[in-house]
Amino acid sequence: MSPLDPAEVPAAVRGRRLAVLVSGGVAAYKVADLVSQLVAAGCEVRVAQTAASTRFVGPATFHGLSGHPVQVDLWSNRGVAEPHVALGDWAQALLLAPATANQLAKLAGGHSDDLVTATVLAARCPVVVAPAMNDAMWEKPAVAANLETLRERGFVIVGPEAGRLASGHTGAGRLAPTAEIFAGLEAAIAARYDLAGRRVVVTAGGTREPIDPVRFISNYSSGKMGHAVAEAAADRGASVLLVTAAPYAGHAGVEGVHVETAQEMLEAVRAGLDAAHLLVMVAAVADFRPAKQEAAKIRRESVKELDLRLEKNVDILAELARESPAEGLLRVGFAAEDAGLEAHAAEKLARKKLDAIVANDISGGVFGSEENAGFMLFRDGARIDLPRSTKREMAERILDALKPRLAGP
Ligand code: CTP
Repeated sequence: MSPLDPAEVPAAVRGRRLAVLVSGGVAAYKVADLVSQLVAAGCEVRVAQTAASTRFVGPATFHGLSGHPVQVDLWSNRGVAEPHVALGDWAQALLLAPATANQLAKLAGGHSDDLVTATVLAARCPVVVAPAMNDAMWEKPAVAANLETLRERGFVIVGPEAGRLASGHTGAGRLAPTAEIFAGLEAAIAARYDLAGRRVVVTAGGTREPIDPVRFISNYSSGKMGHAVAEAAADRGASVLLVTAAPYAGHAGVEGVHVETAQEMLEAVRAGLDAAHLLVMVAAVADFRPAKQEAAKIRRESVKELDLRLEKNVDILAELARESPAEGLLRVGFAAEDAGLEAHAAEKLARKKLDAIVANDISGGVFGSEENAGFMLFRDGARIDLPRSTKREMAERILDALKPRLAGP
């Protein structure tokens, strides 16, 4: 097998967006081959280098191999306002290789004075670090302490291996073999993108049921909890459709569809449910809508009193369960209650034929807040607590609990 065989790149790594960050060591020449192999395996690779590393391998080499211009400093930004943020946002994983002793110290200290360190600090995606240096440097307690700090903070450290070093010494300090670096990337990606291959549909916000062209009935739902569930699922690799009745700024990996009414929400969810593994109905669907919607604005002076007759809205969850009791689709509801939380949640779980329900107590003013708390009940009788946390943390806990129950991709 050729040392550059793209088949050596693990399936979980192929096709990913990877930022390769190169710092100044002799082993930078090996990273050129590694970039080439990743590209051949279908990865999209962008390279950023420290100024020192360009003395070992020039940007022209990485540009040629990756097919993209190489960024070397924070300030020659080719029209990108914040290149370090843009690169970290774009990448699904960062690989720092080789990582010099100096880079390890800077990362452990939280420095961000060049494009490489700033990108690592600004990134939310997993980071794999492959150190390479002289054996005497590698043996210093300062290096070991910095590495331990990075490991504790969740960086995946690969190598180095022992062998002949550029200095002529024999000892530990050689860049890890490519297969080990790929395995590190695979582990980091598998841990973070644990919903890869899953299709998730999420609803959010309070539906608006029109009275006339300027007035509507709605509720206090801000949409934040549903948006957090959608974003957490997307950040974990799922393909996400968010059907929201609330204003939404957007998020990488989330396909947002705006709706107004319960009927529109039903239609958008129904259209997006094909091949879905999970439906999470966080939306506060208006239970009633005006029986008649006036085509023109109701004038204040035209009526003495306004009698609004309301009719029941469609129950989206119940309707979808009736239409397609889809095999392989996990259906999850939310119950926001101000009293009798446990009993109401259990009743809704059964009545709407759900697999799970998230119950949250809205008596403490949850609407619009950044935090939430509650518990989850499952059809099989299981119950888990959701302690007070940010809505994003609660979304992660909900997905953690649902993951083992999802049908495989
Ligand atoms: N839901 C729905 N369609 C509706 C109302 C609610 O699909 N017309 C979903 C919500 O998105 C949520 C769950 O059902 O996931 C529970 O919503 P809730 O409003 O608490 O339930 P209701 O059946 O409306 O009960 P009630 O308002 O009487 O508490």
